[in-house]
Amino acid sequence: MVTAGATGEVALTENPTAVGPTTRQRVFSGIQPSGNFHLGNYLGAIRNWVDQQADFDNIFCIVDLHALSLPTTRESLRANILGLANVLLASGLDPSQSIIFVQSDVREHTELCWLLSSVTQYGELRRMTQFKDKAGGKGEQVSAALLFYPVLQAADILLYDTNRVPVGEDQKQHIELTRDIGARFNARYGNTFVLPQPDIKTAGARVMSLEDPTRKMSKSDANPNATIALTDDADTIRRKIRRAVTDSGSEVLASPDKPALTNLLTMYSLLNGEPISVIEDRYVGKGYGAFKSDLAEVVVLSLAPIQSRLADLNANPEVARAILAEGAERARSRAVMKMSEVRDRMGVGPGWRPGALTKDDGLVHGERRD
Ligand code: TYM
Repeated sequence: MVTAGATGEVALTENPTAVGPTTRQRVFSGIQPSGNFHLGNYLGAIRNWVDQQADFDNIFCIVDLHALSLPTTRESLRANILGLANVLLASGLDPSQSIIFVQSDVREHTELCWLLSSVTQYGELRRMTQFKDKAGGKGEQVSAALLFYPVLQAADILLYDTNRVPVGEDQKQHIELTRDIGARFNARYGNTFVLPQPDIKTAGARVMSLEDPTRKMSKSDANPNATIALTDDADTIRRKIRRAVTDSGSEVLASPDKPALTNLLTMYSLLNGEPISVIEDRYVGKGYGAFKSDLAEVVVLSLAPIQSRLADLNANPEVARAILAEGAERARSRAVMKMSEVRDRMGVGPGWRPGALTKDDGLVHGERRD
């Protein structure tokens, strides 16, 4: 089992439900099924999940309950869940190495969210940058779910004794809050939760908008030219990169006073594997036009194999459905055990009843789950 420590450096000893060797650290990450997945999601998160898959004990979650914090419809949410599962599989997530599941299939997430809200401060939630950004201008009318969002995220992570959370830069604050919530719970109720570390790469953790390099590339951007969607066809990608904002001057250089070129060079380097300095040297004296048209081809070539696998998966939705159903079973079996421990620590659940069964009776506090 996982030995919970307060430092995040955790000894994984014998763990009967682990995927593969038991000494590996546990990775958990999530992504919202909220429409157009873009190059920022891919370079900041999904690609790292795929690249590190063999090294860790992985759980990846399609966080449909988080997506409810902004208006959705039944049809769009369902379509987006399956669409996202296909994007993750087409990008290379492998169900033999990773658990892939939908958050609402494991009800322990919402239960733990409520229990953790008792050790979360209102002021902490109100100060979250993402809450302030998304609530911006809408005053009192935003959903309470938008405020509560990081508590559910903390529940996602803490429920699985997670060591590492691979995310883009924008999620750093939420992981720090998760650690604070977990530490506060441990201090009040005894060592229960592993405190996770964010795993944020130095390059690609903040892919910027093509229209405004001071803003991150975002699914919710109203301007479709600001993002490169993973499903954009070759001509759309070429057009978007051709019209992408550049900096003054004509040299292809990454520097603090050239945020647009820095962003484009970072994409190029991450996708074709060359260091930025090598790419800069290649375009000395050639100007932005030549660089942009080559970058467009790098993006088109990198996305082509993903898009072709995605077309196959979209045509065969039963593949993703089966993987998600199996993933939910595997995630649930871990979540049930952890929740039983959490309820017991807090004094909720059936433990108060006279003659309630305990762990020693071979059942976990009298509960049997089907
Ligand atoms: P979401 O769905 O907004 O984004 C999914 C992942 O993509 C990363 N990302 C980016 N990385 C680089 N550049 C960008 N422009 C960019 N835009 C998005 C995000 O950092 C993220 O890693 N709250 C989370 C989902 C979540 C979660 C979790 C994550 C729920 N529970 C538990 C980790 C662990 C979110 O909304 O991600």
